[in-house]
Amino acid sequence: MFNDPTSPLTHLATRRSGKPRDLVAPGPSPEQLVAMVRLAARTPDHGKLAPWLFVIVPDDRRDALAALLVAAYLAERPEAKRAETDAMEQFARQAPALVVALSSPRTDSHIPLWEQELSAGAATMNLLHAAHAMGFAAGWLTGWPAFSDTVRDAFGAAPERIAGFVFIGTPGRALEERPRPDDARVVSVWEG
Ligand SMILES: Cc1cc2nc3c(=O)[nH]c(=O)nc-3n(C[C@H](O)[C@H](O)[C@H](O)COP(=O)(O)O)c2cc1C
Repeated sequence: MFNDPTSPLTHLATRRSGKPRDLVAPGPSPEQLVAMVRLAARTPDHGKLAPWLFVIVPDDRRDALAALLVAAYLAERPEAKRAETDAMEQFARQAPALVVALSSPRTDSHIPLWEQELSAGAATMNLLHAAHAMGFAAGWLTGWPAFSDTVRDAFGAAPERIAGFVFIGTPGRALEERPRPDDARVVSVWEG
């Protein structure tokens, strides 16, 4: 049904995430990354607050991110095993490009926090769409690093929260489709 590769419907029907650990070079150039983030920022937000931030982590800061994650993890879990800290290192270093998406709500606004957080999620999703439209695959992860205040403080400040780590690159293996929800479960017609 969606065979025209230039159709936005084909884009929507074929986009799927790549596992960040399976994403390889080439990744987006710095210019492409900035263009992606600009596209992602075209997101609905009540009150024009733009209640989100995108922080690009350049190649030469990946070591610093790995060191930060390991130190923060050990501070919270001093008994951690080597495999756990290795996983933090790998998390920081996977995939050619990384953008940290933050929810950045304005607490002085009358717009409810929930609406601002929804907008942050939508902006992060838009980043996945922009990456796919530019010929890359992307994967959205949270995990322990997204819920560490120490990690959050390296990218922003409370009440900001990490919405996700968006890893971007080229799939190193064919992307697997995953089961999609049944219409019958997620769609209904209100009968009043
Ligand atoms: C907010 C959020 C956080 C996620 N965090 C993780 C994670 O930490 N680890 C993981 O394996 N998948 C995580 N996922 C799921 C992956 O992004 C998953 O690959 C995705 O749901 C695949 O769907 P898609 O193919 O439609 O993009 C997360 C998804 C969302 C929306």
